[in-house]
Amino acid sequence: MPAEIKSKLAIGVLASGNGTNLQAIIDAIEAKRLDAVIRIVISDKPGAYALKRAVSHNIQIEAVDRKRFASRDAFDAEIIRILQKHGVKLVVLAGFMRLLTPAFIAAFRMRIINIHPSLLPSFPGLDVQRKALESGTKFAGCTVHFVDELLDSGPIIIQAIVPVLQDDTVETLSKRILAQEHRIYPEAIELFAQDRISVNGRRVLIRNVVESEGAMTNPLVGIPD
Ligand code: GAR
Repeated sequence: MPAEIKSKLAIGVLASGNGTNLQAIIDAIEAKRLDAVIRIVISDKPGAYALKRAVSHNIQIEAVDRKRFASRDAFDAEIIRILQKHGVKLVVLAGFMRLLTPAFIAAFRMRIINIHPSLLPSFPGLDVQRKALESGTKFAGCTVHFVDELLDSGPIIIQAIVPVLQDDTVETLSKRILAQEHRIYPEAIELFAQDRISVNGRRVLIRNVVESEGAMTNPLVGIPD
């Protein structure tokens, strides 16, 4: 099919907070590094700054306040309804701080992705930059993965690693990780848009990627003193 009549990947973004990952996706689309269209941004927090970012780029928004729903199932059913109404083909969780119900996962199986600020499977859950720092690990990072029924689980698509420096605080480490989130999330969505991703058990295979056997150490070794 000629590129000009192939329809763009329709994505729906779910965000609870600041929305810097949403912003990175918007920027990648506007810079034509990502061939996708954001049909809807949904937040469970009516005051989320992510919604303001979307509005300022003329993207449609919906605030779905969890407090208005009697159960998680009813809340998720409303989000599914909105995503389907907008013809969403890929659901992008960008700082969406809620677990999805099995019905949600089933409605978009292998079409929901998440970004998480740790090198999964290490440090699922909350406050993970602090947990990484306190663990003494020399490397931290972020992960884009498909979403399954378990917390921060599901096949891993891309990871980026960053060093943990000796004078790091939670803030400095989080900032270093977040910069990498903004790089890899649009890349992962573009791989999906190009239909280059396949899943074999827990392993994600990507067609036509460049890989490297180069190893890193932290601290650097072999530096003369
Ligand atoms: C990001 O660091 C993202 O990885 C994290 O929330 C932050 C949202 O920032 N998500 C999770 O911890 C999910 N388990 P943002 O609103 O600026 O994109």
